[in-house]
Amino acid sequence: MRERSPVVRDPQSGMWLVFRYADVQRVLSDWKNFSSERGRPRGGNPESALSSSIISTDPPRHRALRALVEQAFTPRQVRALEPRIAELVDELLGKVERTGRMDFVLDLAYPLPVIVIAEILGIPASDRDAFKRWSDAVVTGDMSGSREMAAYFGRLIERRRADPGEDLISGLIAAQVEGEHLSTQELLGFCILLLVAGNETTTNLLANTVLCWEDAPEAYGRVVEDQSLLSTTIEESLRFRSPVQSMFRVTAQEVDLGGQTIPGGSPVLAWIGSANRDEGQFGDAATFDPARTQGRHLAFGHGVHFCLGAPLARLEASVALSAVLDRLPNLRVAPGTVLDPIPSQIVSGVKRLPV
Ligand code: HEM
Repeated sequence: MRERSPVVRDPQSGMWLVFRYADVQRVLSDWKNFSSERGRPRGGNPESALSSSIISTDPPRHRALRALVEQAFTPRQVRALEPRIAELVDELLGKVERTGRMDFVLDLAYPLPVIVIAEILGIPASDRDAFKRWSDAVVTGDMSGSREMAAYFGRLIERRRADPGEDLISGLIAAQVEGEHLSTQELLGFCILLLVAGNETTTNLLANTVLCWEDAPEAYGRVVEDQSLLSTTIEESLRFRSPVQSMFRVTAQEVDLGGQTIPGGSPVLAWIGSANRDEGQFGDAATFDPARTQGRHLAFGHGVHFCLGAPLARLEASVALSAVLDRLPNLRVAPGTVLDPIPSQIVSGVKRLPV
């Protein structure tokens, strides 16, 4: 597609599909032409809560909203989470060592980011199991579970209003955008966005890295021997098996892209997964090279919506994978495993990964 139809309208969905690196980069960052707005919230459901969150707004409102949450995700604040993340990884791998069996997704890659975000949001430990169930429900589109979670967050927001703590929700309640406090709906939107944007993506980054190693076992051997390759390995995994494969925009007016004229109001899908394999951008793009330093992948997006959680995702991956290298130096996918991919156009990963 990159060669022959770099920008093309899919007749079935009516969606404009974009495949080349430079075009994908432009769609992600040129918000004046490619808008993230999905309309103002209409009801009290999780979907409408999400449509009032930063990922679905354009500047200038986007800038004001982003400034609020950014304070909670500065590299310094994220680094402060490292000891706790290491403790959680230790607990999760400890359980695996006791049972002698491991499903890389279910035992490590899935629980870790959910627990971390629950703690950042200030979800009490006693509610964590229910929280995990609901976060699944949001991701899989199970409406009744999603509604339960929205109701739970609604109650938690009220509790924190009355009795603030040190957590992110209390911080967001106290903060102001354009001189106004966030509405309950907007607070709900943030909480749900952090769950949706932060959990499955990080789970897939971890599991996809194991799949990269499975396809190139010598790359695993190299990083076991020399852990200084871990950070380039993580970046290469983000490029090679991007957890977020595509992002959606709507054209704000008629716009020329890749030799095509796209009418205003058209849905556009920017294929990050394709851009990250663009041979014009990455030498030997179809090879997983754990030492690659050349080229900047778009796995976390580009421009004003660049992933807010990127430092957290990188930290979780680095702590978890470093422990895996130390404790499971012979890690391989269990023989005979038939991979069960997550059925989605947007995220790329597997539901289970016995190792
Ligand atoms: C935005 C990917 C982890 C929170 C994005 C975007 C991408 C992305 C591609 C851009 C969306 C756009 O342009 O419309 C990823 C990947 C992750 C990851 C691949 C893991 C490997 C996280 C985590 C969090 C998070 C851990 C938070 C806990 C967000 C938020 C946005 C965002 C809030 C919206 C930013 C904005 O609109 O300004 N992410 N993400 N992400 N991500 Fe992530």
